[in-house]
Amino acid sequence: MLRRWVVSFINPSHTNRTFHTSKLLRTAQIIDGKKIAGDILNEVKQSVESWVQAGNRRPKLVAILVGHNPASKTYVSNKVKAAKSVGIDSETILCSTDITQVSLVERIQSYNTDPSIDGILVQLPLPKGLDEKKICHSISPSKDVDGFHSENIGNLSSDKSGIIPATALGVRELIVRTKIDTFGKNAVVIGRSKHVGLPIALLLHADGNGETGALDMTTTICHRHTSHMDLQKFTLLADVLVAAAGVPGLITKEMVKPGACVIDVGITRVKDAQGKFKLTGDVDFNGVKEIAGFITPVPGGVGPMTVAILMKNTLFAAQHNPKRT
Ligand code: GUN
Repeated sequence: MLRRWVVSFINPSHTNRTFHTSKLLRTAQIIDGKKIAGDILNEVKQSVESWVQAGNRRPKLVAILVGHNPASKTYVSNKVKAAKSVGIDSETILCSTDITQVSLVERIQSYNTDPSIDGILVQLPLPKGLDEKKICHSISPSKDVDGFHSENIGNLSSDKSGIIPATALGVRELIVRTKIDTFGKNAVVIGRSKHVGLPIALLLHADGNGETGALDMTTTICHRHTSHMDLQKFTLLADVLVAAAGVPGLITKEMVKPGACVIDVGITRVKDAQGKFKLTGDVDFNGVKEIAGFITPVPGGVGPMTVAILMKNTLFAAQHNPKRT
């Protein structure tokens, strides 16, 4: 009863009581990112085998890890494992924290011109003193499997086929494969980072008749300078709410439209009461699952999708550069 009052108070324009009541009695469907990522990896594996059987070289990914960030080590190790599981060759390049910008760029340039390599990624964040933007832009756009280079972002912005940032495409796949209705609906993306929030918003808002598989949604981007009061006004309109702010627990149930699809991109390592690290999303999962129609967990939601799409992007890079031997 109290919950129904809260919802009608925060969203007085919502008059469909039957829908309200039924939604309040049901909890959200959990979107299983691990399962969907597994499906994508199986598809990529089959495509890799067909590609190799047609006489092409096996795709190869180079992952560059600078320094000793434990989270970065885990992410790179997950990427290498995923590559192995789909039949993509991979090599991890370990660089010490004191590598200079010039030496790192020189190494990347040598991989750019190496015809046996299809995909290159530099795991972020980089140690202080290295300019992430310049490093990411030194990767050849055709081998930039993270899709961070401005040429790839430019293609995405122009509805042109290209390498799409892995997390953004992962979010799109979660929405589409869960069969969420998107055409003409409202989306709100919280976070405007160039690698995550912005490309997600580009994929959600753009014309589905273009080459990128965009979703034709009316899309609003909120960010750190959106006041909390305004943030709630926007989020309550969202049929699809994507939280990519990196602020644990930012999205509470009062901010969510009943029945909405809530995608949690946040993964912050926080210490629990026992002093152990755990991954925490931007969404108060337990509260929001009572209101939302669909919700991704953390971990097990967007994270595995980024890795699976990275494999898809590596195969794409190989297939769109057939001259490599
Ligand atoms: N660090 C956190 N997410 C990512 C990602 O998607 N790619 C790279 N290269 N580094 C990251």
